[in-house]
Amino acid sequence: MPTTGVAGTIGQESPGIKGKAGKALSPAWRGRDWRNSRGSAGFRALCAVALGPRPGPARGRVVRANASWPSHDSDLRHDAAAMPGPTSPPRSVRALVVAGSARVESNVAAIVALASKTLAAAGAEVRCTDLAVLLPPVFVHGDARQTALPAVQSIRRDAAWADTLLLVTPEYHGNMSGALKNWFDFLYPELAEKLAAAVAVTGGGGGDMSLTAVERSVSWCHGFCLPYRAAAKDSDFDATGLIDRRVSDRIERIAYDLVRYVGPLRASWAAAQREGSGVAAGVAGLHLSDEAQ
Ligand SMILES: Cc1cc2nc3c(=O)[nH]c(=O)nc-3n(C[C@H](O)[C@H](O)[C@H](O)COP(=O)(O)O)c2cc1C
Repeated sequence: MPTTGVAGTIGQESPGIKGKAGKALSPAWRGRDWRNSRGSAGFRALCAVALGPRPGPARGRVVRANASWPSHDSDLRHDAAAMPGPTSPPRSVRALVVAGSARVESNVAAIVALASKTLAAAGAEVRCTDLAVLLPPVFVHGDARQTALPAVQSIRRDAAWADTLLLVTPEYHGNMSGALKNWFDFLYPELAEKLAAAVAVTGGGGGDMSLTAVERSVSWCHGFCLPYRAAAKDSDFDATGLIDRRVSDRIERIAYDLVRYVGPLRASWAAAQREGSGVAAGVAGLHLSDEAQ
């Protein structure tokens, strides 16, 4: 059973975890093996969601970087099962929720919990990358030693695994957090063709600048963003979490949309790659490996 990031793949029993403010969690909140997590029990519990059974062995192919931008040492472009062929059996959508705050007890964590629960309810297999627990180093371009770090490997492995991503950032100085931008810097090929949405947590602002920053970075990594976004400000929370129903409703709708719209996008990308590397394949053709052509 692969584990990734802080929160890892979730879906097994993790007894005795209390939610924020010491509130007992409902049985629907089930965590996996949290032994390696340094996050607070509250955060880990907030991330725990019930998941369906894992799909069978991965099919498909690992695609090597062949585009003009430098690839990572592993050259891992997509998870092996991320590109279903015409005869591939259907599998559940893989959703990654990224907690873009370096602060453990954060409002971001409450959004991550809500988004994770909703993505699972929409039928997705969910993982969380918690940057407050991973605390990766600042990205150094070309530093091969960083490639071997567990935090870096976890970041890249989870991003490659995902079909769709929900990126939650605190708004810092009219921008995404440094933690989330640093997460982006460790990635590039892993985000190509992925469908993403951004949610911001702010002190009181509308979050537009941080949301735009996140969406721009997704685009620059050849990912696609939903045209929907959400932001929650400080006053939308109390000790139990997010209490503004309009904001939570919006986030839940976005989570369902991520699962709904990723299918056609993934299928289109796979169809484009079957064209080969010529212009008819569009930019997808640039992402083919030499051996896949
Ligand atoms: C360095 C810093 C910069 C911030 N800049 C903004 C900002 O530009 N706009 C805003 O509305 N809130 C701003 N805030 C407030 C945070 O967005 C807010 O406290 C948010 O809840 C932080 O997320 P967290 O609770 O997950 O840590 C800033 C906070 C910090 C620490």
